[in-house]
Amino acid sequence: MLPDCIVPKANLAARNTLGLPARAEFFASIETREQLAMLARHPDLSRLHHFILGEGSNLVLTGDFPGLVLKMELKGRKLADEDGDYHYVAAAAGENWHAFTQWTLKNGYPGLENLSLIPGTVGAAPVQNIGAYGVEVGDFLYELEAFDCISGEIRRFSAAECQFAYRTSVFKQEGWHLLGRYAILGVVFRLPKHWRPRAGYGDIEARLQERGIRTPTPQQVAETVMGIRREKLPDPVKLPNVGSFFQNPVVAQNLAAALTSAYPDLPAYPQADGNVKLAAGWLIEKAGWKGRNLGPVGMHEAQALVLVNRGGARFADVQNLARAVREAVFARFGIHLEPEPVFL
Ligand code: EPU
Repeated sequence: MLPDCIVPKANLAARNTLGLPARAEFFASIETREQLAMLARHPDLSRLHHFILGEGSNLVLTGDFPGLVLKMELKGRKLADEDGDYHYVAAAAGENWHAFTQWTLKNGYPGLENLSLIPGTVGAAPVQNIGAYGVEVGDFLYELEAFDCISGEIRRFSAAECQFAYRTSVFKQEGWHLLGRYAILGVVFRLPKHWRPRAGYGDIEARLQERGIRTPTPQQVAETVMGIRREKLPDPVKLPNVGSFFQNPVVAQNLAAALTSAYPDLPAYPQADGNVKLAAGWLIEKAGWKGRNLGPVGMHEAQALVLVNRGGARFADVQNLARAVREAVFARFGIHLEPEPVFL
């Protein structure tokens, strides 16, 4: 007998922001830690694959999922501690990320302003180390708590143990998110009391200058970030998408040098390890795919890195467009683009 909270054959179409059709064999909303522990050890459910779902804003559903989807709904946020230098702010995994960032700002704990308006949940943020405008969540994460669905224990991960890198973490690298091994329960952020704006990222600096702001407040940085995002990134509620569909490719310095000498306006960002990150959006635009559709999907007209569902798309449509874009970029620049979201 399955617990009452289990929904069989659950429709996931409204639970992924790309709006792809798919069903989960079983689905449950997780509102307490005890409920999660109960489901993980249930004899009829523990042998299944688990997938931990936030708001589905970085997820591509490839078809029906023959396992158990656990929608993380744990709520709560508070100032957990402070010392002379930092606020330690805790939030449960099911909190909406943007609402949480705005709450930190309102309460006088700045630091996360550059990450305003990123869709998704607090618990999903560390999995792919969300980032924007020169800041990544790993820069501020102090520790997190995760439930090990296999052993039934709660484990703490320090920031170092999360192994953050560009758009990835130990949770993504190990494929743990797909196996449903660890369900992130809550995250503690360490936010500096001696706040300094991180406004060095081109667009932000220019916009603050336009407004005549020399020493911005955290709120002003947040407003600027939100303004840029609203212009460039389509709202998934109005036009289904998962943000950047490809990662910005990181290439060896000699390849980057050859490309930037052939294409002087190619945005290129040197990395600490000597490699160079290139702007995938620019490559896709120059390969002719900005604003272009293939069937019911297309690459967005304001940001070529965002694949949008113009209505009724299925996974095969997404696959066809992604393949066409990758082939076009490879044919023109010799660069392989890798997808950014999680495929389930
Ligand atoms: N560009 C173009 N054409 C385009 C898009 C971009 O020429 O169609 C150029 C821009 O002019 C700019 C450069 O490419 O010179 C970079 O563009 P942008 O600042 O828009 O950022 P991005 O590299 O395309 C990354 C993140 C975004 C994040 C922004 C801002 C990845 C995969 N994406 O995009 O994250 O919001 O930087 O920091 O790293 C996401 O992960 O879903 C996401 C939206």
